[in-house]
Amino acid sequence: MATSAQRDGFTSTLGVLAATLGSAVGLGNIWKFPALTGSYGGAGFLLIYLCATLLVGLPVMIAELAIGRRARANPIAALKSLAPGRPWWLVGVTGMVAAFMIMAFYSEVVAWVFAYVWKSVEGSALSSEAAVTEGAFAALVSSPWQSLIWQWVVLLLIGGILLRGVSGGIEAVTKRLMPLLFLLLAALCVFSLTLNGAPQGLAFLFSPDFSKVDGSVVLTAVGLAFFKMSIGMGTMMTYGSYFRSDQNIPLTAGRVMCADLAVSLLAGIAIFPAVFTFGFEPTAGPSLVFITLPAVFAQLPFGQALMFVFFVLTSIAAIGAMLSLLEVPVLILHERLGMTRRRAIAVSLLVVGVLGAGCALSMNLLASWRVMGRSLFDLLDFLSSNVLLPIGGILIALFVGWVWGRDAFIAAVSNDGSRENRRLASSLVLVLRYVSPVLILLVMLNGLGVI
Ligand code: PHE
Repeated sequence: MATSAQRDGFTSTLGVLAATLGSAVGLGNIWKFPALTGSYGGAGFLLIYLCATLLVGLPVMIAELAIGRRARANPIAALKSLAPGRPWWLVGVTGMVAAFMIMAFYSEVVAWVFAYVWKSVEGSALSSEAAVTEGAFAALVSSPWQSLIWQWVVLLLIGGILLRGVSGGIEAVTKRLMPLLFLLLAALCVFSLTLNGAPQGLAFLFSPDFSKVDGSVVLTAVGLAFFKMSIGMGTMMTYGSYFRSDQNIPLTAGRVMCADLAVSLLAGIAIFPAVFTFGFEPTAGPSLVFITLPAVFAQLPFGQALMFVFFVLTSIAAIGAMLSLLEVPVLILHERLGMTRRRAIAVSLLVVGVLGAGCALSMNLLASWRVMGRSLFDLLDFLSSNVLLPIGGILIALFVGWVWGRDAFIAAVSNDGSRENRRLASSLVLVLRYVSPVLILLVMLNGLGVI
């Protein structure tokens, strides 16, 4: 078993920020957030999402980071060492299962994104006719080989980066890519704001309409907050275990939350004005990115270049998130089963490859195969965001609030008294004890139709 003296970790405050933000920022911001905001009434959904982020997302993120750093171990070992002889470590096991489930469908969407980077170089899939862009996307999705090959390109790239370790791989890559992401996104926003549809696009994003909001929409917003902030399944515990001892955890989490929110809003600002300018429907669901946007790009000056920038940007976002997802099982297999890092990566990739192939094929060869009325892809997406992550969040909040205890949490968050986070930490304990778990539970039961 690897000892803490040999443990790799993040080396600088900037590296910590880049890696943690790299995990939070992902397809969630670009593929899920704008489409969900579009479907559920624009700013009404946004407001609920904001509340969910502040009341549950941020406290749970801080809790996870603190647990990880205190134990300096993978989520299973961390919970075992902080609550010896009790079954809390099972939260680490379900976290690993959730990581595999998310990666199975996530890697397929990243595969489409990579394919679209390629398509934008070729200039294919670019047409002002939505029927043509729809056909291009359908051709990609319905081809088993194309789906599988792009998925393996993604998996091998992520595996290759992880092979270089935590500081040499995750930190080095995200430190270079995150600034580029902000730059590209800002450029797209400036461009989009000069279009005729800008006022309409912004009004859509920022003026609330609560008529579309019901229990399942609130659950979706909470699920999105968990998915966005990479919490409820051990990712942040894993990354917390790589934090330096002098890192200010609440400040880092707050910064990541704000920057992640900024990326989501900027993505909305880049997308909606352009969509309205050409009279498309904003409520187009996930096909917004792969069908509507290429049709929008086709009508813009420098459309092909803009499409390339957009999909490169989306790939960058997805890479940081995938790294953090795969690192969860890799660290567990490495530390708990004593596998070398190389072997742990290979085994994890194989599991994702098999599950991911199921998702990729659920769009073509296995299209008629339904589980609980959904395709495997939709089922894994739904179960992870709306069931597993919220349950993980409840358990982590309860663990810190009631089991690990107030003093231990305060000590961890204040860097053993060397930071003035004590008051903040003691109010956080109250939130984690009474507010977050109850809120998540009510929202879950209501959203799933139980109450
Ligand atoms: N936060 C990532 C996104 O928004 C997804 C993710 C979820 C990453 C859970 C790690 C863990 O796309």
